[in-house]
Amino acid sequence: MLQIDGLRKAYPGTGGRPATNALNGVSFRVEEGEFFTLLGPSGCGKTTTLQCIAGLEMPDSGTIRMGDAPVFDSEANIAVPANKRRLGMVFQSYAIWPHMTVFENVAFPLLYGEKRRARADVRTQVAKALAMVELGHLSDRPAPMLSGGQQQRVALARALVHQPRILLLDEPLSNLDAKLRDSMRTEIRNLVKSVGITTVFVTHDQVEAVGMSDSIMLMRNGVVVQQGSPRDIYLRPNSVFTADFMGRSNLVPGTIVEVGEIAAIETNFGVISGVPQGDFRPGDPAVAVIRPQAMSLVTEGGVADRSNCFSARIASLNFLGDVVETEVVCRDQRLLLMLSPYVQHAPGDEVLLHVPADHCVFVPPEETAGEARSA
Ligand SMILES: Nc1ncnc2c1ncn2[C@@H]1O[C@H](COP(=O)(O)OP(=O)(O)O)[C@@H](O)[C@H]1O
Ligand SMILES: [Mg+2]
Repeated sequence: MLQIDGLRKAYPGTGGRPATNALNGVSFRVEEGEFFTLLGPSGCGKTTTLQCIAGLEMPDSGTIRMGDAPVFDSEANIAVPANKRRLGMVFQSYAIWPHMTVFENVAFPLLYGEKRRARADVRTQVAKALAMVELGHLSDRPAPMLSGGQQQRVALARALVHQPRILLLDEPLSNLDAKLRDSMRTEIRNLVKSVGITTVFVTHDQVEAVGMSDSIMLMRNGVVVQQGSPRDIYLRPNSVFTADFMGRSNLVPGTIVEVGEIAAIETNFGVISGVPQGDFRPGDPAVAVIRPQAMSLVTEGGVADRSNCFSARIASLNFLGDVVETEVVCRDQRLLLMLSPYVQHAPGDEVLLHVPADHCVFVPPEETAGEARSA
């Protein structure tokens, strides 16, 4: 278990530039064995958070607990040095030593680590770590004679060889080409799940985060915007920022006209029922978030009642094979939706658009959400 509370970190400005508040009170908890991902745009504080956990950066304030013991506590003046935290790390530039063999690279933390180990012990541990990443057969190969993916696996084996309590991965896939990145995603996820190690993974790629994580924490400007399962974050965004960051969506502004578990918003193409994400009162401005996959075209009588059904006209169709990217116009509102390739329509068709209420969420408009977050 990893528990972070109220982490703050500012980097002093150099050459007359103002200081950067990299972390403005970040708190989260990672459960034992969980694959936990820090997600967010470049500069939002992901690496700083990871470096603070690793003990490579000193937070200004806050606490970091691993298991039951603090490894950092600004008030109690506790700061356990990096090499005593028992962590495994892989960075973006995973820097394996070019003048060493695969074996020597993986053995490195054991030979030069905190405590000395017997040769036989080192052999067993390295063999075990190499077996985990399926590189046992390449043990004696010089490191430069490996493919990108194999080098990446050496870095993983080296991070796991001393049986760390937590594995920290900072954008470990970003130096790999697209195809390899896809297969390494599954490989890393399977590896950490089979070892059962608690993992904190950093990425700016939402597809990577959704495909690999048990839990995702989305960050922006040094604060936590939202945390939850990939499904929750994707389907139940709490802000325009989350909705936008996690994939394509229709963002329709309007005014809340009804509150409750299912609320209603008045938009320029009618009143839509949906799930409020936040505390709204009638009259509040809000934005309806509707994913392109959330809507369907129905026929009169094809749905039980006409609630959340809107007359629309097909503006354009883009057949992509897997889906047909379709633009419809509902009064003045353009909406993007994904249709099945088996459904045939033509531009100009008059259709009935159905938005299931539980597929539509209401979030605060971006300005007020931003103010609330930075307050
Ligand atoms: N060593 C440093 N000195 C000064 N500013 C830094 C340093 N490291 C990071 N920053 C700044 O802190 C903010 C957060 O950076 P970082 O944690 O690296 O973000 P991320 O990993 O999400 O891209 C950024 O504005 C970045 O420019
Ligand atoms: Mg980074």
